[in-house]
Amino acid sequence: MKLPFKLNPKFFKKFPSFILASSDPCLIYKSDSDSKSMAMRSIRLGGTFKTTCISRYINTINLLQSYCTPKSKILDIGASDGSASLSGIHGLSYSEYIVSDKYLFLHSIKLLGLYFIFTDRLKFQMAFNSFFVLYRSSWLAWFFRLFDFLYYNKAKRNSKKVSLLRDEVIAIDNVSVLEFDMFRPKNIQADVVIVANILNRSYFTDEALNSLVLYFLRDISRPGGIVALIDNRAEKGENSSILHNDGHAFTLLERVGDGSDVEHIFLNLESLN
Ligand SMILES: C[S@@+](CC[C@H](N)C(=O)[O-])C[C@H]1O[C@@H](n2cnc3c(N)ncnc32)[C@H](O)[C@@H]1O
Repeated sequence: MKLPFKLNPKFFKKFPSFILASSDPCLIYKSDSDSKSMAMRSIRLGGTFKTTCISRYINTINLLQSYCTPKSKILDIGASDGSASLSGIHGLSYSEYIVSDKYLFLHSIKLLGLYFIFTDRLKFQMAFNSFFVLYRSSWLAWFFRLFDFLYYNKAKRNSKKVSLLRDEVIAIDNVSVLEFDMFRPKNIQADVVIVANILNRSYFTDEALNSLVLYFLRDISRPGGIVALIDNRAEKGENSSILHNDGHAFTLLERVGDGSDVEHIFLNLESLN
């Protein structure tokens, strides 16, 4: 059973200095060299974690290079803070690389010694101090509802807005940033679509994933384009499927490891019609 809280791995090191609690939610793991991505391990908004790291799916990027040209438009969906995108940004050819995520910003406010996090669309999602993080899960729903009731309106007026993107990602030429929810139709059409560590069965039901496929085929991926479904969470290693969009259906071009565990949903499009 998953617990609705996490301890900061630096808890015991920090214990004597608890009075110096971090004041910035993105620096909760302040002492780590890659502090922003480390903080992403703890941030969960609307049911999905923002966990990420650098060089996360390098084998897939190596394969993708042969499908990219200097004219390619690349769309990276669910890029979190852009850490994992950096290998594509530096290793692929393109005219435009779009780093996108459903949540590019969050708001934070300190209430009764805890930092609470929320977004423009979601009420309080997490609460933390330097030692632990509490999540809005079934166990603690009552606690968050109480704080929503008492403080949410005040928080909307007084909160601090925090960008979740790494500064160096925003500063690179030909890289743009887009707040993009893949479940909300938007005709965006890229030549190469990268979806890493987000389209999987722990986050979404098969029904939700099925509903996405036609939309990916028609609105997100350009006919003749490529979609890379990548999954390398935890100990399973790097598994990905590189698919081709022929305008009517997806076909499999290549796999890394065992491929994505949602590959068949994209390949069995007929069953949806
Ligand atoms: C586990 S992280 C993966 C980050 C990065 N792609 C990687 O592989 O390291 C999942 C990301 O997907 C984003 N996300 C969740 N639902 C989404 C949606 N409907 N549309 C776009 N992004 C979404 C989350 O905000 C989060 O940043």
